[in-house]
This record gives sequence, C-alpha cells and structure tokens, in this order.
Amino acid sequence: MRGFGFREHGGPEQLGYVEVPEPSAGPGEVVVRLRAAAFNRLDRFTLAGIPGVPIERPHVLGSDGAGVVDQAGPGVDDLSAGTRVLLNPGLWDGRCPACARGDEALCREYRIVGEHTQGTATERVAVPRRNVHPFPSEWSFADAAAVPLVFETAWRALATVGAVQAGERVAIVGAGGGVATAAVQVAKLLGARVVVAARGRQKEEAVRRLGADDLVVVSEDRPLDRALWDWSGKEGIDLIFDSVGAPTLGRSLRAVGRGGRVVVIGATAGSKVELDLRTLFWRQASIRGSTMAGRREFETVLGHLARGALRPVVDSVHPFDEGPAAFRRLDDPGLFGKVVLGGPGS
Ligand SMILES: NC(=O)c1ccc[n+]([C@@H]2O[C@H](COP(=O)([O-])OP(=O)(O)OC[C@H]3O[C@@H](n4cnc5c(N)ncnc54)[C@H](OP(=O)(O)O)[C@@H]3O)[C@@H](O)[C@H]2O)c1
Ligand SMILES: [Zn+2]
Repeated sequence: MRGFGFREHGGPEQLGYVEVPEPSAGPGEVVVRLRAAAFNRLDRFTLAGIPGVPIERPHVLGSDGAGVVDQAGPGVDDLSAGTRVLLNPGLWDGRCPACARGDEALCREYRIVGEHTQGTATERVAVPRRNVHPFPSEWSFADAAAVPLVFETAWRALATVGAVQAGERVAIVGAGGGVATAAVQVAKLLGARVVVAARGRQKEEAVRRLGADDLVVVSEDRPLDRALWDWSGKEGIDLIFDSVGAPTLGRSLRAVGRGGRVVVIGATAGSKVELDLRTLFWRQASIRGSTMAGRREFETVLGHLARGALRPVVDSVHPFDEGPAAFRRLDDPGLFGKVVLGGPGS
C-alpha cells in the first residue's frame, strides 16, 4: 500500500511516497480506509528524527485521519463497515495505574499514531476500537481529519491542566497554527477573555472570527511581555498557552500576574530556555507541561465540536499526490489552521 512519508530521516528533501504493508485488524482493533489525513508540526519533528523515539522505516506520516470503517477485528461487533469515523491518534495500554484512573494521557506506554506507529497519510490504518469515533454528517472528511490532535491538546492544556476559569485573561502565543486556532476557541468556550499574540495583524480578522477578543502585535520594540502586560491593564495574564518555546517562554513568564500560569505544549522555535527564577517565585507563578489528552477529554472536546460550539479550522486541502506541496504549506507565513491531505481515491 502506498503512503506519504520518508525512507530516511532528514529535511523535506526526504519526503516522498513509500510502500508499507497493508494493516489487518487484530483483536479489539478496526481498520479504517482513510479519506483524509492532516499534518501537524509533529510530522516535521518525526521526519527530522526525535531522539529516543525509534521508528520503523519506511515511515508514513500523519497523526490525524478520517475515513470509513473497512474491517473490524475479533471482538468488535458494534461498528459496521462504511461508518464514517475520525481517529484519536493517542495510544495507551489500558493497563497501567494512570490508565486505571482514567488519565490515559499519562500512560507509561503512551504513543502517538504517525510518530511511534505508521501514520494516516496512506490508504488504511489499524487502530484500537476505542480510538475511532463517528463524526457529524455535515462535516467533510477533511473537517474531521482537522480535529483530533489539536483539539484534544488544546482541551487538556486549557481545561484540565490550566483549569481556565470564566472571566480569566488567557493569551495564546501565535495566531495561525493548528493548535493555536483550536486553543483560541477552547479558551473562549471556557469563558476566558482571549488575546492572541502574533507577529503581525494579517490574521487578526480570522482569529476574531474564532472568538478571540483581541490580537496584540509582538515586535522587537514591543516584545511579548510588554504587549501582554499592557493589554492586561498592567495586572498580568492569568494563563499563557505557549507552544513557541525558546524565543517566548521567558517573556511569557514575565507577562503573567500573581499566581498566573504558563502552559507549555510545544517548542516550535527551540526547546532550551533561560528563566529568571525570581519572577517565578515572586509572582508565585507556575509553568506546567501538557501533552495530548485522555479518553474522556477527547470525548468531551469532540462533543463540543459535534454540537457546533467549536469548529474545525481547515487551512487547505491538497490531493494525495501533492504531499510535498501540502507539507511545505506548514511553513507558509499565511498558514491558518490545518493542512489536510486527501486520501488516495478521495
Ligand atoms: N504536547 C502536545 O501534545 C502537542 C500537540 C500538538 C502540538 N504540539 C507542539 O505545538 C507546536 C505547534 O504545533 P502546530 O501543529 O500547531 O504547529 P503549526 O501549525 O506549524 O503552528 C506553528 C505556530 O507557531 C507560531 N509561531 C509564533 N512564533 C513563532 C516562531 N518564532 N517560529 C515559529 N513559529 C512561531 C505560529 O504563529 P503565527 O501563525 O502567528 O505565525 C503558529 O501559531 C509544535 O511545536 C508542536 O510540536 C504539542
Ligand atoms: Zn497506561
């Protein structure tokens, strides 16, 4: 079966189409015939190679996918072939203490489809039955593929780890990324006053349409901490959602108010930072990390999407045969939302 991915780690020059074996549904699993896959920045990191994460090669990229049920494995009798489903890309063992208490995101064996396993930019994928979910009939396959990874991440980071309360000031660093466009909506749904910190005004209308109350422009003259501090009326931000990393984290910490928190879910622009600990303790601030989500969190955020309180944000849909161009779009300064690859034959 043909997939979009790579044979050797490296940069975009390694991208191409590879042959991988057809999956089959083991006990408790489902094979989904994919109609759309979506990329995440994670795919860039997987392509480059992540220290400590050995992967099978050739490797198919893509953590997000949507399609139809093709085959149900032994023990799966509640899903008929042809049902339209999206995939939860989080894989957990269901046996460890974290899984037993329902916090699968902390599973000791936690893995992600497309990073630790073959991905979704192909014809079929096998996943546990508990990882497939029907989606609203008015959504396209592209809409459905745009949802899972970014919305589950935004939900856990803001609702569970960040414990955002109605009326709080929440800042999202970055405007157009997949996670950023989900986070703005989730923060708004939780009742926050939401500001987006961006490097220009180009995406302001679009983030306001997602519910953001404001956008502040960050520049050398007016760095992130200054822009957010001023926006907060010099009281400080309650929670900052930072996925940019090295250039912003220290400034995010300086922009929170007393008792404020910074939730880190990524390090797009670098992962080594220097912090002034005096800011941390004097403000009694906290910095928390968050990754993906557990089963209940996934189902909760999917429920909000299904009732229309949140919506998928599709930047662009590309034919399956144009994988390299689709991938390049991830680095386009105009990116707004998810880059989706139509499945073969869709
Ligand atoms: N822990 C987890 O579970 C988890 C889950 C998903 C993603 N992540 C991580 O979160 C990050 C974002 O993921 P994504 O898929 O949303 O990525 P993406 O779609 O490529 O978006 C990148 C984002 O970074 C922003 N950005 C701001 N300053 C930047 C700078 N100096 N350099 C580069 N980008 C800058 C961009 O903002 P503008 O649009 O304003 O340019 C954009 O919002 C990645 O590092 C990813 O690995 C982690
Ligand atoms: Zn577990």
